[in-house]
Amino acid sequence: MQPENHESSFIRRLLLIVFVSLNVLDLLFTSHFAPNVSRAEESPRSKSVAETSNERSASKVDDLLKEAQRHFKPLPKDLATQEFPINPDLVTLGRKLFFDPRISADGTVSCSRCHQAALYGTDGLAKSHGAHDKVLPRNAPTVFNASLHFKQHWRGELQSVEEQAKRSLVGPGFANPDYVTAMTKLKAIPGYSEMFLKCFPGSANSVTEDNWGKAIGAYERTLVTPSRFDEFLNGTTNALTSAEQQGLRTFIGTGCALCHNGAGIGGDKFRKFGVLEDYWPATHSKDVDKGRFDLTKNLDDLYLFKVPGLRNVETTPPYFHDGSVTRLPDDVRIMARVQLDVTLSERDTTAIVTFLKSLTGKRPQDFTDAPILPAAGFDSSVTSTEDQHATR
Ligand code: HEC
Ligand code: HEC
Repeated sequence: MQPENHESSFIRRLLLIVFVSLNVLDLLFTSHFAPNVSRAEESPRSKSVAETSNERSASKVDDLLKEAQRHFKPLPKDLATQEFPINPDLVTLGRKLFFDPRISADGTVSCSRCHQAALYGTDGLAKSHGAHDKVLPRNAPTVFNASLHFKQHWRGELQSVEEQAKRSLVGPGFANPDYVTAMTKLKAIPGYSEMFLKCFPGSANSVTEDNWGKAIGAYERTLVTPSRFDEFLNGTTNALTSAEQQGLRTFIGTGCALCHNGAGIGGDKFRKFGVLEDYWPATHSKDVDKGRFDLTKNLDDLYLFKVPGLRNVETTPPYFHDGSVTRLPDDVRIMARVQLDVTLSERDTTAIVTFLKSLTGKRPQDFTDAPILPAAGFDSSVTSTEDQHATR
């Protein structure tokens, strides 16, 4: 215990003045600080420097938490909605379908080929390879937390994960010529008919592309990966290290949270890639993707893309819609430059990367463990005639 004396009282007052000036806003807008002053005045002993500085950093963290809560939201437990509810049977079926390659044109392509557990729901390629080794036009984003996004795909042409899963059947990944071909393959695996019937009772034919989409969508709505950042947002401020807190401050202070915000740290709006200068000299992209313009032919949509969610971003290189950049610090520098006209110092870049790494969550066990699929002889009569010609 320190006796009250003039010297310590002077130091205390000096520290309080510094403290006050650091917390002007707090003092003005909340009553948070005022009671502390009077308590300190009444206190029979003066506070140690360590105590005061602890209080100061606690108040700084509180300010950061409040600021962060203005921009971000913690992830919910699952991403079911009124329109797209989930139940255990539907999720079980969707999980099996997600891992099943037998519905694709050449029998080798499942969702999990391009959205792999070991690569946090991506395939690690700049651009994915579909059936017959066809190269897809864009990079595969992770499926984790994707159902949270307001639209699906880089250009946001699909409204929900359910629509995305349905369309995959006839897209360049699975490469079925039409839905009928795909459903014929699905029906040829006896175990599935029963599961579809259980999930979608009351219709003569429950094995449909819409129900395929609903089942896989339900499974995707369970692929939620909360991280230490969610604990922080929920009030456990020491869930983030002081370096991560500093990175969060820099992320917000630089302006990144203008676009990357909400529960997904992105995923809720379209923005131009290259607000202040063209993106391709910065990313060294080989081709220039015009983004939403190619869909709408509206000049306002030139180079517009969905702002990607940054959850798990540390684990999902290569980056951007074309996989043109492989290192996260380069992403951060490019974003600051072309989106915000900011040249980041090495220190600020590192700080932001340190914060971004705190967004890495645990992979759902339902995703890391592959399910056992219903057995079926791979009946050659359901492969496409094109394949049969190829093997002759
Ligand atoms: C051949 C590789 C491949 C296969 C197979 C594949 N995907 Fe993808 N996936 C991609 C690519 C590439 C994109 C980005 C497409 C784009 O934006 O143009 C994507 C995008 C997505 C997205 C949107 C994510 C976001 O943030 O916008 C979801 C969700 C998704 N896939 C789920 C699935 C499901 C479910 C299946 C199986 C039905 C599947 N994918 C099959 C490569 C693949
Ligand atoms: C004006 C809106 C805007 C601002 C501000 C912004 N971004 Fe982005 N960000 C985007 C868009 C749009 C993309 C998608 C670009 C593309 O087409 O690949 C993106 C992509 C990214 C990616 C790549 C993600 C992936 O999975 O490939 C990272 C990382 C990123 N931003 C981080 C940041 C950081 C860090 C800041 C602040 C320095 C920032 N962004 C500021 C809109 C923005």
